[in-house]
Amino acid sequence: MVVCVGQVVTDHTFRVDEVELPPSKTTARGYARSVGGMAANAAIAVVRLGGEAVFWGRVGRDEAGEELRQALEEEGVDAGGMVMAEGARTPLSAVIVDKMGERSIVTYRGEKLPSDASGLPLDRLAEAGALLCDPRWPEAAEAAFRMARARGLPSAMDAEKTEERVLRQLVPLADHVIFATSGLTIFAPGVPPEEGLARALKAGPLQLAAVTQGEKGTLWLAPGMERMAVRPAFPVEATNTTGAGDVFHGAYALALAEGQPVEQALRFASAAGALRARDGRTPDRAVLEALLAGGTDVPPVRRKRKD
Ligand SMILES: Nc1ncnc2c1ncn2[C@@H]1O[C@H](COP(=O)(O)OP(=O)(O)OP(=O)(O)O)[C@@H](O)[C@H]1O
Ligand SMILES: [Mg+2]
Repeated sequence: MVVCVGQVVTDHTFRVDEVELPPSKTTARGYARSVGGMAANAAIAVVRLGGEAVFWGRVGRDEAGEELRQALEEEGVDAGGMVMAEGARTPLSAVIVDKMGERSIVTYRGEKLPSDASGLPLDRLAEAGALLCDPRWPEAAEAAFRMARARGLPSAMDAEKTEERVLRQLVPLADHVIFATSGLTIFAPGVPPEEGLARALKAGPLQLAAVTQGEKGTLWLAPGMERMAVRPAFPVEATNTTGAGDVFHGAYALALAEGQPVEQALRFASAAGALRARDGRTPDRAVLEALLAGGTDVPPVRRKRKD
């Protein structure tokens, strides 16, 4: 079982041929509304891949919040601990996906979401095999990370783009910190990724500092390693890269709960992220195992970009 803490939003996804420069008017080729958010997507990934997931996050007590809670429950995620705050507004994102499957996101982080995390049932961590937090509810992430460390429960962080002070607050508290490219730039500005990862390792008793780079794969550094290593991405034809990082983190946390060693967990997570980018939806365990067994470990083929 994995406890996932952080963001849940309604994703409004528009498919377009081209993301045009402003001022512009664009006709969408398709539209869909779905559950999004780092920790929420990760929780769904845990369940699809055969684990159990508990989600802790915040929404408003409004229609969108109720819809998200229901959608998570329908996916098999235990969302009973979700905070639905009176007078608050539920976060949402506009997700624009182009012909290449590349996404651009505008996120509204909601309003009046309570920061107080003292009501969380932290004792549920006793049942968990791993903890995963993103930075969107720092007070909850801090409380959960501290409890996990006290209990010897392995923890992972999705170190996404956020305020620098939040990264400084949370990175030292997690065992396995996996940055998004933008998150690492904020944590360690102006230095190469290898130096940034080394700084993260030194920030606390970390077992892994890594950064995901989409189709270019994942750079990672663990204590005792002289140089950082590269976990190549599985080469796929991407149709929608939205949530690939979220699914990567959910799969990584599940692998930790299963006792997989770091290198194996990174390969497992990379396969999950690649399948999400290829299919635009989160894979189940059988599809993932098939990719792993196929052993497509060759370096990634770079897709041609428009720029
Ligand atoms: N186009 C792709 N082809 C193969 N693997 C991919 C692709 N995109 C993502 N992945 C896998 O998923 C991991 C995470 O992706 P990425 O670095 O894009 O996350 P991110 O920037 O956090 O984005 P988001 O959280 O919005 O999904 C990558 O390290 C890689 O293993
Ligand atoms: Mg991400």
